[in-house]
Amino acid sequence: MCGIVGYVGGRRATPVLLEGLHRLEYRGYDSAGLAVANRNRLKVTKAAVRVDELRDLVEENQPATTGIAHTRWATHGEPTDANAHPHLDTAKRIAVVHNGIIENAGRLRARLTADGVELVSETDTEALAHLIAAALADGAPSLEEAVRQTLREVNGAYGIVVLDAQNPGQLVVARNGSPIVLGIGDGEMFVASDVAALVRYTQRVVYLDDGELATITADDFVTSTLQAHRTAKTPMTVDLDDSDYDLGSYANFMHKEIAEQPESVRRALLGRLDDRFGTARLGGLNFDPRDLRRIRRVKFFGCGSAYYAGQLGANLVEEWARLPADAEPASELRYRNPVVEEDTLYVAISQSGETADTLAAVQELQRKGGKVIGAVNTVGSAIARECGSGVFLHAGPEVSVASTKAYTNMTVVFAMLALSLGRVRDLSVSDGSRIVAALDSLPQLISEVLDGEDAISEVAKEHSGAERMFFIGRVRGWPVAREGAQKLKEISYVHAEAYQAGELKHGPLALIDPAMPSVVIVPDDELLSKNISTIEQIKSRGGPVIALTNAELPDGLADSVIRVPRSEPEVDPILFTIPLQVFAYHLAHHLGRDIDKPRNLAKSVTVE
Ligand code: F6R
Repeated sequence: MCGIVGYVGGRRATPVLLEGLHRLEYRGYDSAGLAVANRNRLKVTKAAVRVDELRDLVEENQPATTGIAHTRWATHGEPTDANAHPHLDTAKRIAVVHNGIIENAGRLRARLTADGVELVSETDTEALAHLIAAALADGAPSLEEAVRQTLREVNGAYGIVVLDAQNPGQLVVARNGSPIVLGIGDGEMFVASDVAALVRYTQRVVYLDDGELATITADDFVTSTLQAHRTAKTPMTVDLDDSDYDLGSYANFMHKEIAEQPESVRRALLGRLDDRFGTARLGGLNFDPRDLRRIRRVKFFGCGSAYYAGQLGANLVEEWARLPADAEPASELRYRNPVVEEDTLYVAISQSGETADTLAAVQELQRKGGKVIGAVNTVGSAIARECGSGVFLHAGPEVSVASTKAYTNMTVVFAMLALSLGRVRDLSVSDGSRIVAALDSLPQLISEVLDGEDAISEVAKEHSGAERMFFIGRVRGWPVAREGAQKLKEISYVHAEAYQAGELKHGPLALIDPAMPSVVIVPDDELLSKNISTIEQIKSRGGPVIALTNAELPDGLADSVIRVPRSEPEVDPILFTIPLQVFAYHLAHHLGRDIDKPRNLAKSVTVE
């Protein structure tokens, strides 16, 4: 959600900033802009364009060696040239890029207007530029102090980088609720909202904490709190480089990330399965069998696809560990007044580790004494650090807005969690070994699904004229249906709705007609005959059916069939989701959609 880049060092800043923006564009693509400081003047280029078009508007050869840049996902004010970042004060001395939402922006803007300041955009960010400039004019001893004074007046979430034309060898950055990471180079420093923008230049990074500021120069960085207390930071090394963000021969990141799943699932499983005792060992949890036995309930929470993955996880915990388990959207949990129990294990789920609602839910649960672990993909992210313990997903960087490999690794990690909880309770060693074998063979089975991509693409093409679609599942198939509908709607803009099979007849059946195809999830389990009846109900109302199945269905029952390899019934939901990713991808592709950058969305939602 909005990408931020900053540079101070010995190189020309503009190409570094453009390259960083290119890497961050998946965080927002409504508009883009940059500002560099040269001879005590700011040169600003910004417009409601994508990064490639911004490249055509800027002069890459400018000698400036300090600058800031931004790619925007609009929150306050439409995506227009005027609302694009960076934002400036009236004298064009201060430039600010910002990720987040300033909640008292209305009041701050009104005060500035009353003071005679002419505001040129509709954004919350512009107020910051004017206030920082005013603090300097009123005698703040340094840019950092001017930023600190300004931020003390601000309520809300921000990650900001500030450039002062009068001090071109430094940047001031601050974080509260929106990620900021510093990249330490040799005689140069970088700042960004995501390591993706830095790893081409350095692997040594420092994550700012909420309420922290930093002044960075080419050779140094100094961190402190809003109350002006110095803080000590130890740089860490990230295990990523630029090639992790390359498209290679793929047309887009979603296709690449779908194809990477055999490998990313293998990484999630590596060293965690114990064949001998039919269990799994998740080192990051630091739980011994006694701790595991003390857990009486499991609650998963996350947003969007992460929440659906949690639902799948909750089903597995109930099946294997016979513990009550459920999943809830973090955006609801954070504002309810949940009953927090000591013997409940709370599992926060997030690819980015920065989703504002999930982070707030973690903090709310912790405040009330809840034991929260993270299931997070991004090492060093806010949720991973806040939880302190948890399980990393090891999916590798996920760039496409639509989650695929991170979603799958969430479900794989939850299968291992459920297995380890089951094995200290009633799950037998032979059942445990059966599950270990099924998980171990997942990478191979996912490869088999992907080998069938052309056939799935044909089915998607056949149905690409549909304006609305149902995804129907029952029990194990229900989270699969929800995630299938989610993938389709977000990248194709086809209205896709998930429904529980048994609930169809209580209302939604009225929507079935020849223009409304239904994707029905039909695993070969104890509910097969029920799911076949569901298909018959839909067919008898004239609705086309696409069956997703590993069973032998009666000839002619479904209009199209997508075949899935056999696994163990409990593990089916993990595998069944993959063909639905492929289906959504190809349907969107047939419709000519911008798959990695679907309209109105952005990766990593760091605002409410
Ligand atoms: C859908 C999708 C979103 C995310 C959600 C949570 O494909 O990607 O629904 O799952 O925004 O994001 P994270 O997992 O980063 O917390």
